[in-house]
Amino acid sequence: MVDPSLEATKRYYDDFATWYENERRPNDARGYHALIDDLELGALEPFARGRDVLECGCGTGLLLERIAQFARTAEGVDLSPGMLEHARARGLSVREASVTALPYADASFDVACSFKVLAHVEPIEQALAEMARVVRPGGYVLAELYNGWSFRALAKTLGPAGRISKTRDESAVYTRFDPPTAWRALLPASLELEGVRGVRIVTAAAPLLRIPFVGGVLRALEHRLMATPAAYFAGFAVLVAKKRGA
Ligand SMILES: C[S@@+](CC[C@H](N)C(=O)[O-])C[C@H]1O[C@@H](n2cnc3c(N)ncnc32)[C@H](O)[C@@H]1O
Repeated sequence: MVDPSLEATKRYYDDFATWYENERRPNDARGYHALIDDLELGALEPFARGRDVLECGCGTGLLLERIAQFARTAEGVDLSPGMLEHARARGLSVREASVTALPYADASFDVACSFKVLAHVEPIEQALAEMARVVRPGGYVLAELYNGWSFRALAKTLGPAGRISKTRDESAVYTRFDPPTAWRALLPASLELEGVRGVRIVTAAAPLLRIPFVGGVLRALEHRLMATPAAYFAGFAVLVAKKRGA
């Protein structure tokens, strides 16, 4: 049963589903979305290889499909039936649920991760507490936030809302930007923040990735910088938090 306060997000993503897939298929190795997905998986894989992994907000399954290739088991949950239809068509194991009320027993997974999702969840502390609850002691939560200290946050605050489908723009969904000073306080006491991985640190505008040589340099720099202090200024910040008590 989904909390009625999440209905707007659910409607937004149901409308978004086909557009979301079309934007990302065929998977364009030199495109913006491919870079973001590669960086997110680059952050996740060292913690998730050979482990039981839950992706919260798996959407159409673009990441979960790749996670399934290196994890021992890969499960997904998402709020939106429209997005999940695509994930099911990929043969993935998914359930319709909110990250704020995960339908799993305590300590069911080694890793719970979430990418491009938590910025749209108003009760974010509840979501992070749920992710921590379903992870085994010694396991990891990898939680991506929109960084309040980024050029992207400034551009999104000052600029017009981006189009997300024929009928809606980004203003149709709740979106939050959390600055590094707030990150630790969002986590439940059961999690210890071990590090941060930055996604989109130097790519000021997506079209730059298409320029020969410039695109290659930007991609290489993004990978090189993601685990450095520059991560604190990335557009997206992946918090790496370990569950206490192993
Ligand atoms: C931008 S998509 C990202 C999908 C996937 N993680 C990826 O990177 O391709 C965001 C997804 O989060 C889901 N979502 C938003 N709020 C959620 C919530 N409270 N619980 C579960 N999923 C949620 C949306 O339905 C949508 O499918």
